Parts: sequence; structure tokens; C-alpha cells
Amino acid sequence: MATPAGPIPDVRPDLAGQVAVITGSTRGIGLASAHRLVAAGAQVVLNSRTGADESDSLGSFPPDAPVAFCASDVSTVAGAEHLAHFAQERFGRIDLLVNNASPGVKVDFFDRLTPEDWRWTIDGKMFTTINCIHAVLPMMKVQERGCIINIVSDAARVGTAGESMVSAAYGGVIALTKSLAREFARHQIRMNCVSITLTTDTPAYERIIADEVRSKIFTKIASKMPFGVLDPDDTAQAVEYFALARRVTGQTLSVNSGLSFPG
Ligand SMILES: NC(=O)c1ccc[n+]([C@@H]2O[C@H](COP(=O)([O-])OP(=O)(O)OC[C@H]3O[C@@H](n4cnc5c(N)ncnc54)[C@H](OP(=O)(O)O)[C@@H]3O)[C@@H](O)[C@H]2O)c1
Repeated sequence: MATPAGPIPDVRPDLAGQVAVITGSTRGIGLASAHRLVAAGAQVVLNSRTGADESDSLGSFPPDAPVAFCASDVSTVAGAEHLAHFAQERFGRIDLLVNNASPGVKVDFFDRLTPEDWRWTIDGKMFTTINCIHAVLPMMKVQERGCIINIVSDAARVGTAGESMVSAAYGGVIALTKSLAREFARHQIRMNCVSITLTTDTPAYERIIADEVRSKIFTKIASKMPFGVLDPDDTAQAVEYFALARRVTGQTLSVNSGLSFPG
């Protein structure tokens, strides 16, 4: 006989009491994610390399919001560890890690990229994530609880001309996510990816619309998005979903306004 389903809880799940660290969160998608998580009850640590946008980003929250800022370059192991220690000292634990930091993107054909370009992209888009996962795992293991969300790009899922190294870096992050989701499930640590495409109100978008040729290509692509071009809150909504989900791990969710259906 099938087990009858239990009652559906009438209380909206929330993140009250949970501590989230979001790398690269002084603007764009990281900051939008911070707003979603704070609204859901989390205490949040914002981060960027220099702190140039610290006061603007902190100032976008109400004065009593449980938000702190830590300047740290997470493309280094020491920088990621510094961020994790800061969060632990300030809030006592880390329940959620959102790996969003990225130094930008150099779009060009592979045979025109230099070895320095390859390393810059892999360091900025893959090692930032590896370093931070490594820095928070010991704490999450002790807590026997944790959720890690990696922001990646659909360039890794469907391939995008001019973004070969982005594809390589984020393809690595997607593969890593699956393996670590298996390894750390026994500690009740979940790990997922949100895979996105070009998003308004970000430097990447500004760069594209400022360039006549790329802007034309993008207008064509945008016409294939039946739900309109993404904004930072679209990704933040998916981040909130993974943060609240109880039994979802090892997955990659594409948020791309119907542009493609990666398998
Ligand atoms: N925007 C898009 O259209 C798009 C498309 C596909 C995927 N994505 C991905 O989505 C994520 C967010 O993109 P975004 O456009 O919102 O980025 P963004 O506006 O350029 O913001 C990136 C953030 O990361 C920080 N940062 C960069 N390198 C860092 C490092 N080594 N350590 C700590 N912080 C660092 C930046 O601050 P500082 O520079 O002051 O350090 C900033 O706060 C990225 O992973 C990106 O690859 C974006």
C-alpha cells in the first residue's frame, strides 16, 4: 500500500537563523541574491575584492538588516579562507554559500586568446568557486548541514562561440558540483548550479550594448527569448529556490528565458 502523503505545511519555509556568504555581491546578480536571501530571513555576508562598492551595496539594505561586508579576493585560497573566517566570527556559522564572484569575461575566438587569458578565466570562474567550497566545507561538515549554490553560464551547457574558456571553467564547476554533491550528501550538504545567460544591469550587458556588432547579434538572440531578457533578480529567484529546497542536490538549473533547453 502506498504511504499516504503527509500534511502540506501551511508555513512558508524560510531562512531565518541561517547565515549566507555570497561571493562577488556588491552589485548585479550577487547583490540581487543577497536581497532575496535577506528578505527570506538570512543573515548575509557580502564580498568583493576591494570594497570599492561596499557602502553602496550595504546602503541598499535597511539600516538594521543583518548584512556585513568582507573585502577578500576569493581567487586565492587565502582569500577564500579569510572570507569564511570572517563569516564565522561575525555570525557564528555558514549555512549557505553562493559562488558568484567573477572578474568579467573576455569574449574572443579561442585561437586569439593567450595562455594568460585562459588562466585568468579559469582562475576567476572556476578557482574562485573551488577555493570557497574548500574553505566552508569543514564548518558545514561539523554542522552536518549546508547548501552551496554555484552560478555558472549556459555557455558551459550549450556552447557559445567566443566563450570557450568560460565554457571550460563553468563546465568544470558543473562536473565538480555533481561529484561533491555525492561526496558530501552524507553530511547533509547540498550543492547545485544556477546556469544563466546574458543579464541586464550588469557590466557584461553594458559592454555588449555599447558595441555595435555585438549589440546587433544580441538583439537577434534576445528576440528568441519569449519571456524577455534576464535581469539579476531572475537568477536570485533560482538561488532562493535552491536555498530553500530540502531534497535537491547535484542539479543544474538553466535560467535563460526559454532561449535553449540544455539537457
Ligand atoms: N552578467 C551576465 O550577463 C552573466 C551571464 C552569464 C553568467 N554570469 C555569471 O554570473 C555571475 C555574476 O555576474 P555579474 O554580471 O553580476 O558580475 P559583476 O556585476 O561583474 O559583479 C561581479 C562581482 O564579483 C566581484 N569580484 C570579482 N572578482 C572577485 C574575486 N576574485 N573575489 C571576490 N570578488 C570578486 C566584483 O567586485 P570587485 O570587482 O570590486 O571585486 C563584483 O562584486 C558571474 O559568475 C558571471 O560569470 C553573468
